[in-house]
Amino acid sequence: MSKVCIITGATGGIGRALSLKFAEEGFSLLLCGRSKEKLRLLERELGWAKVEVCIYDALKRNEVEVVRKALNSFGKIDVLINGAGVGIYEGFEDMSEEDLRYVFEVNFFSPFRLTKEALRHMKNGGTIINISSITARLPVPFMGGYGASKSALSSIMESLRAELVERDINVLNVEAGRIKTEFTERTLGSLRHPPLGRREDPSLFAKAVYDAYLKRKRVLVWPFRYNLFVVLRALFPNLYDRKLYEAWKRENEL
Ligand SMILES: NC(=O)c1ccc[n+]([C@@H]2O[C@H](COP(=O)([O-])OP(=O)(O)OC[C@H]3O[C@@H](n4cnc5c(N)ncnc54)[C@H](OP(=O)(O)O)[C@@H]3O)[C@@H](O)[C@H]2O)c1
Repeated sequence: MSKVCIITGATGGIGRALSLKFAEEGFSLLLCGRSKEKLRLLERELGWAKVEVCIYDALKRNEVEVVRKALNSFGKIDVLINGAGVGIYEGFEDMSEEDLRYVFEVNFFSPFRLTKEALRHMKNGGTIINISSITARLPVPFMGGYGASKSALSSIMESLRAELVERDINVLNVEAGRIKTEFTERTLGSLRHPPLGRREDPSLFAKAVYDAYLKRKRVLVWPFRYNLFVVLRALFPNLYDRKLYEAWKRENEL
């Protein structure tokens, strides 16, 4: 019997790559997104795989329906990928509370609710995979709102892993660097040009996530070079802050 995976944010660049990878590996998939049309397109692209789709909008809070659909379609849940997310590029002083609450709703409260609901039915082990961000461990100027939502997600999921030690359920936090998707174009906030270097191929990212899932890793920082930035910041925090601040200023003509 094939394993079953729920993927939120399946209609985005990373979600699509993860859907292709997990389908290739023989998973049955419940693909979740807000747009029926985008979901149908992806379903057609994956015509050879066992796929069902479900409209999921973090703001509509229909997590119970998502989990019920997975159980009705496939009878169980082995893996939940919390992939839906939204960014915000804005300085602290200009950031509205409304925008920040929206970012937290999508990046933190939605995975919180969906994971809770899925865990009620994951009786025979499984994995929760959270597509978090390197900004959860590496603060970046003008990305504080986004980083706060992702570090809250990473943190609560670290505790959850420890609470699941007797249930054979792993939690994998993926702290991703820049990936080539439409993420930047869709961010909230007034700044449009993050000076954050090369963007990586989503299919390589999906492969790394799948390998980490197989190895039951707790955290994946990808690509690996971001670990070096973490060390650099620890060694030279003032220089790190200033260089990044100046780069944002330059790119966004502040
Ligand atoms: N790309 C990067 O550089 C990068 C780096 C680190 C982490 N990440 C994380 O990776 C994940 C996927 O991002 P991506 O790069 O694939 O960006 P993307 O192409 O913009 O995809 C974002 C996905 O999230 C969904 N989404 C947005 N708001 C939602 C809401 N209110 N309710 C339900 N779903 C919603 C989108 O659905 P619609 O299609 O309906 O809009 C889409 O499927 C996010 O969690 C992001 O924070 C991305």
